Amino acid sequence: MRDQLEEIRKRAIADLGDDATETQIENVRVRVLGRSGELTEIMRRMREVPNEERPVVGQLVNQIKRELEARIAVLQEKLKAAALEKSLSEAQLDVTLSGMKIRRGHVHPIHQILEWMLEIFVGMGFEVAMTQDVEDDFHNFEALNFTAHHPAREMQDTFYLDGGALLRTHTSNGQIRVMEKRQPPLAIVCPGRCFRRDELSVRASPMFTQLEGFMVDRRGKITMAHLKGVLTEFTKAFFAATAVRFRASYFPFTEPSAELDMRCLLCNGAGCAVCKHSGWTEVLGCGMIHPGVLRAVHYDPAEYQGFAFGMGVERTGLLKLGVGDMRLFFENDQRFIAQFPELSGGAR
Ligand code: PHE
Repeated sequence: MRDQLEEIRKRAIADLGDDATETQIENVRVRVLGRSGELTEIMRRMREVPNEERPVVGQLVNQIKRELEARIAVLQEKLKAAALEKSLSEAQLDVTLSGMKIRRGHVHPIHQILEWMLEIFVGMGFEVAMTQDVEDDFHNFEALNFTAHHPAREMQDTFYLDGGALLRTHTSNGQIRVMEKRQPPLAIVCPGRCFRRDELSVRASPMFTQLEGFMVDRRGKITMAHLKGVLTEFTKAFFAATAVRFRASYFPFTEPSAELDMRCLLCNGAGCAVCKHSGWTEVLGCGMIHPGVLRAVHYDPAEYQGFAFGMGVERTGLLKLGVGDMRLFFENDQRFIAQFPELSGGAR
């Protein structure tokens, strides 16, 4: 039995020469160490070995096993290193190949429009203030002079949240939020998201963006003339409008109230389908801040006076970019969005 073992060992070592291939190594492993390999076979025949010799034979089997396993490990390590060496020396890197072009994203057109509007107002000395989307009745309605059963509340179909909170229906809550905390003189613009229970359509969306602005100072310092000056300046700067007009209107929080129209950009006043043949396009709502609003923020209307305005950013975007459908701004279809890569700074 011992001679037999010695024979197995010799043959295996001979087969595991320095230049043994992967297959040769595997063959030896299976032949000698495998489940029905030579060593396993010897172990199975241990019964035939006289009792006193058994430990010696057993030890010898284990010794051969360890020796061969170690040898196999060394050879495999060598083969691996050689393979790596080979692939490194053969692989070629062509640094002249052109790379893959990565498409850069850009700011959403609505945000670009908003930034541009803000730039114009900041240039006139306004300060930007962010206010909250989730509001209470007081800041969205009550303080803005909408009394409990004011019909204008129904004009703005409101989303109510549990516990009486609501999603602001306009950015006019920003007037209240800022005036509550600060004292005049103030010249503020508040951009933000607004929400109304409207169906998504060509002209409307349940979520939209507004830009609110207001200016307050001592009585006599901020008049309707300033309102007209600031808003005419804005409309000319932003739209390159050729003419504007102020048309009497109504809002609970301003008195007097007006809407600013500009001469239709498409037909220049001649009348077309877009301006419904009136020659004018509505741009924004505005007015002198109602004394009731000033009282709600503890300003004395005998002492202070100011104006406010508000406009829809998507609506303005439609006019400015000549886009026909409001929904395009919210669908985020790249084929649409990618048409407005850089309005701010570029295509003005
Ligand atoms: N809050 C008004 C709206 O949503 C716009 C507005 C703001 C009008 C400020 C006058 C003054 O339609």
